[in-house]
Amino acid sequence: MNNSNRLRIAIQKGGRLSKDCQELLKQLGIKLNLREQRLIAHSTNMPIDVLRVRDDDIPGLVMEGVCDLGIVGENVLVEVQAERLRQGIPSEVTKLSKLDFGYCRLALAWPQELGKQDKSWFEGKRIATTYPEILKQYLKREGINASTVMLTGSVEVAPRAGLADAICDLVSTGATLEANGLMQGDTILESNACLIQNKDLQDTDKLALINKLMPRLRGVRQAKE
Ligand code: PRP
Ligand code: ZN
Ligand code: MG
Repeated sequence: MNNSNRLRIAIQKGGRLSKDCQELLKQLGIKLNLREQRLIAHSTNMPIDVLRVRDDDIPGLVMEGVCDLGIVGENVLVEVQAERLRQGIPSEVTKLSKLDFGYCRLALAWPQELGKQDKSWFEGKRIATTYPEILKQYLKREGINASTVMLTGSVEVAPRAGLADAICDLVSTGATLEANGLMQGDTILESNACLIQNKDLQDTDKLALINKLMPRLRGVRQAKE
């Protein structure tokens, strides 16, 4: 558990969501000194500490109560939840709000030169992905017998490198698929960033602070509409 009396928020250190997360914290009135390349940044005007970590670690940190809040893509949240459920360890969080950034889709893709393919093409194929649990659930649902190859990065080069026949990866602008000669197929999951809270949080001061921040968050979201 987070024994600190300061509210701990986990955000992504470097990557697609980092800039928007920092901007959001600023819009919520949380003053931070993020200049130093530190793991923890202390707010100068509120009892809040911001932890900057790998996005994949955020759901676990919040589920374990190491952090009280976290900002993470639903794609990462759903994958970690499925993985923890399989392992029989706690996987619940309280979803406080969907956020208006970090939109992407988890989609299948294969070498462009193969042309358009339907689902049956995947039968017996190897699919590289960072999201094996979500992919396996999809394959099961669709009744496709394919194997998954887990890669934590550079998924888009897997077909060319002979590691897999196809991939299942995040697509935002589509530039990565394009640059790697891949054709996009079915979308398996659509995702946005979201704000999550440890489901057992009981500290009244922290809950009061969150209650103060939530209307501000709604204000920020409405101003964007
Ligand atoms: C994703 C994905 C691609 C890229 C696609 O990585 O793995 O590399 O974004 O975006 P595009 O369609 O705009 O080219 P991301 O940066 O989300 O996360 P990662 O570093 O955890 O793979
Ligand atoms: Zn990641
Ligand atoms: Mg990537």
